[in-house]
Amino acid sequence: MTKKLYIETVGCQMNVLDSELVVASLRKRGYELTDRRPKADVLLFNTCSVREHAEEKVYSALGRLKHIKRQHPQKIIGVIGCMAQNHQQLVFTRAPYVDLVVGPGQLHQIPDLVDRIHDGAGPQMEVSLPRKGYDRAAIERSFESYDPLRNPEMRPSAYQAYVRIQIGCDKFCTYCIVPKVRGPEQGRSPQQIVAEARQLADEGCREITLLGQTVNSYRYTDGGRTTRLSDLLYMLHDVDGLDRWKFVTNFPRDMSDDLLQAVRDLPKCSHYLHVPAQSGSNRMLERMKRGYRVEEYREMMVRIRETIPDATVTSDFIVGFCGETEEDFQLTKDLVAECRFKNSFIFKYSERPGTKGAELYADDVPEEVKKRRNNELLEMQNSISEEDNQLRIGETYQVLVEGPSKSWLKHGEDGAPLQLTGRTNWDHIVVFEGNQRQIGQFLPITIYDANAFTLFGEVVTRHVAPEVYMLTAP
Ligand code: 5AD
Ligand code: SF4
Repeated sequence: MTKKLYIETVGCQMNVLDSELVVASLRKRGYELTDRRPKADVLLFNTCSVREHAEEKVYSALGRLKHIKRQHPQKIIGVIGCMAQNHQQLVFTRAPYVDLVVGPGQLHQIPDLVDRIHDGAGPQMEVSLPRKGYDRAAIERSFESYDPLRNPEMRPSAYQAYVRIQIGCDKFCTYCIVPKVRGPEQGRSPQQIVAEARQLADEGCREITLLGQTVNSYRYTDGGRTTRLSDLLYMLHDVDGLDRWKFVTNFPRDMSDDLLQAVRDLPKCSHYLHVPAQSGSNRMLERMKRGYRVEEYREMMVRIRETIPDATVTSDFIVGFCGETEEDFQLTKDLVAECRFKNSFIFKYSERPGTKGAELYADDVPEEVKKRRNNELLEMQNSISEEDNQLRIGETYQVLVEGPSKSWLKHGEDGAPLQLTGRTNWDHIVVFEGNQRQIGQFLPITIYDANAFTLFGEVVTRHVAPEVYMLTAP
């Protein structure tokens, strides 16, 4: 009988990709995926540490497995990813029935560790080195880029895939746990990246999203030659079968002109840039140690608009960071009003033990104030998104059709016509009526309605007019 694997993933796109790869490696050992926890022989939680809430949710999910483990002690429960690296031994302390703890830099070990636990070796933990106390090369080696096998079945759509181009982060923003749990910034070799893109294209994938924590800081030096992200984009352009790509997440200070020009000049590149500002107040940006002032962010926006006039830009913001006053928050609102982002992801500050922010500043903005600021900013952003989306009514876009829309999957079984979803070259989500055969194709869609999050359209059909014969008298 085949063994069954259940995996739950929270967090960012990096984690989604990691889960795809972990599943692929366990399939090779004979595991089959199940979406039912009680059926699984191995249960993995791929975790996130960016906010406390995400970690607490994993502990409550683990809590619910306690009795299953008591009844079926042979089942293997694993915590992998960022929280595994962040909490290490603490995971076993808080959930003593966990068998496996593996950090994001050690995921390649999972199949062997699972075998070892099976063979009775007891709980296993593999994590990377801390960022202090060792030399850089040793720390880098302990965080291995994990990109072995691709698994089309684990992807949300067979026509789209993530490709990692960089691991880790060296920016050390004071609120952020990522440099600690994902290790030093390291670029993957362009040859490996291009080979992987080729393989994905051969498997039928039409769009890829290049991933890096600060993707536009990407650098790879070999034999005295340095490849930048812009160079890499030119190399990817030659991959046959691949029609479109984008890259996330950008760091404002590294948004160089050569990159913007590459985005402008390469027809396969989406005109979409995710460049988190985090705050509109210089006092906050300084405390966050973001390395730029708001004037520089504005100047970057001007350069984006000048080089790629039709680009859509999205951002992240943290509200209620340590010491944030109403004046600081107003400056963030001013920036959102001025930049008219396509959308923004807004987060309430969550103190992360082990960061400089937790060490240096008090988390002194009350929860209700954080909540209120979050809602206010979100409301403001949503009305901007809605206004700008409505300006797109009547336009026609080439949309890469991803599959059935979420709402159709939820409610569509009662015979409603198939609703498909896809994205434009500017990363707008478009929903329209269609058929199965259209999935994976680029289709022209004309937009007839829009809200803050979605454009609604219909497929442009060419009308073949009946031929008209002029009956003229001889
Ligand atoms: N609290 C709240 N939000 C955070 N982010 C990162 N760290 C924290 C934190 N401690 C947000 C940032 C980042 C996004 C991925 O998560 O806005 O861009
Ligand atoms: Fe975190 Fe800053 Fe690195 Fe982004 S750039 S992952 S916010 S430390």
